[in-house]
Amino acid sequence: MTPDVIHRLVYLSTAVGVLRADELDRIWLRARAANAAAGVTGLMLFHQGVFLQVLEGPAAGVASLFERIRRDRRHANLTILESGPVEERAFANTPMTYISARNLSSGEKQALTDLHAAVTARPGLPALAGPGLSRFLAAFSLRTA
Ligand SMILES: Cc1cc2nc3c(=O)[nH]c(=O)nc-3n(C[C@H](O)[C@H](O)[C@H](O)COP(=O)(O)O)c2cc1C
Repeated sequence: MTPDVIHRLVYLSTAVGVLRADELDRIWLRARAANAAAGVTGLMLFHQGVFLQVLEGPAAGVASLFERIRRDRRHANLTILESGPVEERAFANTPMTYISARNLSSGEKQALTDLHAAVTARPGLPALAGPGLSRFLAAFSLRTA
């Protein structure tokens, strides 16, 4: 049997208003259930109003989840950093690993802030989907393995 092609979508967005920890937890719990049902795994980071989310799984599952997520009014300015087939999942172990700001190291927070600043300064910059992003994600992939 041919293994299903895995699609990865990575985006950045900014929170609208102040999102409290319990609301973020609710988003995450909901995401875990819905994503597991769709065969989607991934990562969600949040720091200083910036979200980075990775969705990995069958293309149709990723696309329909992202359609729902992009309409969510709790965030805006969604910028896709990567979208396409990958050899394997970087976050295979859980439907959605959520790492909140208090569990990010200062280096990780800085990296997220820098990524967001780069995207804001140069929207659509394709280089962001290159080695810089891969290295950034690889560090989290190891951490959640
Ligand atoms: C930053 C962010 C990430 C989200 N990630 C997911 C996710 O991975 N999976 C999911 O089902 N919902 C996610 N949600 C919630 C969805 O946007 C949506 O509220 C939820 O799926 C319920 O959709 P419905 O009201 O159309 O049923 C996320 C929301 C935000 C703000």
